[in-house]
Amino acid sequence: MQKDSQTMPEIRFPELNVNTYKPNNPVEVTVVDNYIATLENSPNIIRHITFDVSDTELEGNVWPGQSVGIIPEGLTEPDGKPAKVRLYSVSSPGYGEDGKPHLISITVKRVIEEDLETRNLFLGLCSNYLSSLNPGDKVKMTGPSGKRFVLPENARDFNYLFFATGTGIAPYRSMLLDLYHRGFKKKAALIFGAPYRTDLLYDGLFSQLQTQHKHFHYLTSISREGTRPDGTKNYVQYQIEDASKVLQPMLHQSNTLIYICGLKGMESGVFKALAKNGYSEYLEISDRIEHLDPDQWTAEDLKKHVKPSSRLFVEVY
Ligand SMILES: Cc1cc2nc3c(=O)[nH]c(=O)nc-3n(C[C@H](O)[C@H](O)[C@H](O)COP(=O)(O)OP(=O)(O)OC[C@H]3O[C@@H](n4cnc5c(N)ncnc54)[C@H](O)[C@@H]3O)c2cc1C
Ligand SMILES: NC(=O)c1ccc[n+]([C@@H]2O[C@H](COP(=O)([O-])OP(=O)(O)OC[C@H]3O[C@@H](n4cnc5c(N)ncnc54)[C@H](OP(=O)(O)O)[C@@H]3O)[C@@H](O)[C@H]2O)c1
Repeated sequence: MQKDSQTMPEIRFPELNVNTYKPNNPVEVTVVDNYIATLENSPNIIRHITFDVSDTELEGNVWPGQSVGIIPEGLTEPDGKPAKVRLYSVSSPGYGEDGKPHLISITVKRVIEEDLETRNLFLGLCSNYLSSLNPGDKVKMTGPSGKRFVLPENARDFNYLFFATGTGIAPYRSMLLDLYHRGFKKKAALIFGAPYRTDLLYDGLFSQLQTQHKHFHYLTSISREGTRPDGTKNYVQYQIEDASKVLQPMLHQSNTLIYICGLKGMESGVFKALAKNGYSEYLEISDRIEHLDPDQWTAEDLKKHVKPSSRLFVEVY
């Protein structure tokens, strides 16, 4: 398929307020809702938590893609020091949860792990603090944070490919609700990777958007319920090949932007899949490795010689 020869519209980033509330001057906000967002029989517990930020500088001032910080007050880190701030992507749209600018939401996975050496159960400090909160509880919040992993100001001028793993879906709930609220008419694809179908967060919403908007495609990559024909796991990056009928025409358009959010390391797979399939305009690949098959790129090659171009944004932790 021929690449489109039109020039890309300029990406205008909004002038955003950041860090109005810092860890040394957080603002107190109130929990209004806290419900499990995974399905009943999921082994993972992920919660949608909504806060009332009325009469604070956060009200109406969080742009899709930005995060807020939470300080689990009164708790201590394993070294005995007071608990530090943790960041969470905002999953409510810029116009507020349920259309109310004083309500903002986040999507939090309870971190529950076994320490393989001691065999003790390890509970993540902040995620479990947040998950146990009730409506009416007060929380110390910082932010907003982030300036680049956000929707452009001229958001309606672009097509979007949104790659998410797990709770990396949070900013896209915000962005997609916001885009369609603003009358977005171009193309968008959400490629969501989750271990089981029961972990497909906001599945009803994204399915509904797909029904309502003919240019919106919702693709899921379920990693633990079967493999691809060649035995590889169903990971988001393989949709570039597996769903090429839908994605290829979008990837070839000069006004398409790519966003990647979720597990650290997922970006490598997406970079390799883009390069392998000839979409190198989303990357800056140094001459040193350009001749190599992207499947042969080492972690070192990726770190030193492959960078996102101005059309690709990554936020992974
Ligand atoms: C920009 C940004 C946005 C983010 N957005 C989201 C989001 O939308 N949703 C979300 O859920 N998360 C998000 N995160 C991650 C979030 O900030 C926290 O890192 C996450 O919730 C874990 O915090 P915690 O306090 O529960 O875990 P911590 O207590 O900080 O523990 C973190 C990790 O340390 C390890 N660890 C530490 N001590 C031990 C021990 N004794 N034994 C075994 N393991 C140990 C574990 O691997 C554990 O997973 C985001 C992070 C960033 C930077
Ligand atoms: N703004 C941000 O930066 C932001 C926002 C939200 C969340 N996060 C981060 O995102 C992460 C989400 O973790 P989670 O526990 O919710 O995810 P998860 O449910 O454990 O995993 C999501 C899916 O990704 C797959 N996966 C694993 N490694 C992959 C790889 N290299 N490439 C592609 N897919 C891969 C998993 O497959 P298998 O496990 O079956 O292999 C699973 O299907 C957290 O680390 C969180 O801190 C960051």
